[in-house]
Amino acid sequence: SAAEKGGYDYFMLKEIAEQPKAVADTLLGRIDGSGRLTLDEVRIPDAVLRAADKVVIIACGTAFHAGLIAKYAIEHWTRIPCEVELASEFRYRDPILGQKTLVIAISQSGETMDTLMALRHAREQGAKVLAVCNTNGSTIPRESDAVLYTHAGPEVAVASTKAFLTQLVACYLLALYLGQVRGTKWGDEIHAVVRELARIGDEVERVLETMEPVRALARSLAHKDTVLFLGRHVGYPVALEGALKLKELAYMHAEGFAAGELKHGPIALIEEDLPVVVVVPSPKGRSVLHDKIVSNIQEIRARGARTIVIAEEGDEAVVPYADHLIRIPATPTLLQPLVSTVPLQVFACELATARGNEVDQPRNLAKSVTVE
Ligand code: G6P
Repeated sequence: SAAEKGGYDYFMLKEIAEQPKAVADTLLGRIDGSGRLTLDEVRIPDAVLRAADKVVIIACGTAFHAGLIAKYAIEHWTRIPCEVELASEFRYRDPILGQKTLVIAISQSGETMDTLMALRHAREQGAKVLAVCNTNGSTIPRESDAVLYTHAGPEVAVASTKAFLTQLVACYLLALYLGQVRGTKWGDEIHAVVRELARIGDEVERVLETMEPVRALARSLAHKDTVLFLGRHVGYPVALEGALKLKELAYMHAEGFAAGELKHGPIALIEEDLPVVVVVPSPKGRSVLHDKIVSNIQEIRARGARTIVIAEEGDEAVVPYADHLIRIPATPTLLQPLVSTVPLQVFACELATARGNEVDQPRNLAKSVTVE
């Protein structure tokens, strides 16, 4: 009913709007005043976390994309090697697991069968499994050694939005916590990240307040067949998530690529007026990466692409090559997906509406896939 949707036309719109609160709720009580992580629910002994020599993340769909982003944070902040794998692939390739493997199973519903089968397999091999889950008492947390709940609240729309942002928050917290337990030096970068997390809900709110041009752009592209998404570093999984949203909701051909791979194939797809969304990394601190993506934008634009550029406020280098510029607040590099994903959700939702699709219940899809 309209009341359940809180005055919004669709649950998805309501859930997109709830993201600042979902993010804040997931942080609540988990970082103390001095910046220390207090994740009491991670009931895996510190000795086990210290001894872990590998992290393996398993998940499906949007949760898999959260896992891809988590890998950058875990490896950078803890220096523990981290693999991320689709649960449906992981189980059947006889993966190498042992008592020093920490498996993180990410699932909004806690009922996805592929993820459940993968975690059962991991535990049989002696690995410890930590669930990141949004649904209290669901099967995946019940069968795991510990659970870090995301506090997104119920997510009704099939296409995941607020659950994804809270999965990212939970993974950042876990990465910081692993670092803390293992004695990673609390450098300036980590202090900056903890400070930024405290205000990230407000940054997401600011993004939401500036989405009208994104909706107008989506409506103008409703007749297109294909949209491509490019990113580098954590912007790459964001590109994959942007493309997934468009497939799920707009039923359009959408692909996400690592921008560095352009020259190995995808650039052959570029033709006159093809919309290409580019997620641009922070210009600060990682200028090499930033310069490279600016030249990627130039390359595709020279071949006729219509460039839709998502870039931080103050990033002037991209302006000459952006047919459409979507601004996001500046954040520490690893946290950027918390703000860069939001315009892509809005974009996909508006395209679905413009194409007359059912936003909350896309054809052929289920909220939770409980068969293998
Ligand atoms: C389905 C949903 C997706 C979700 C995926 C994984 O495909 O439509 O939105 O990302 O399952 O679900 P989970 O509940 O395990 O996060």
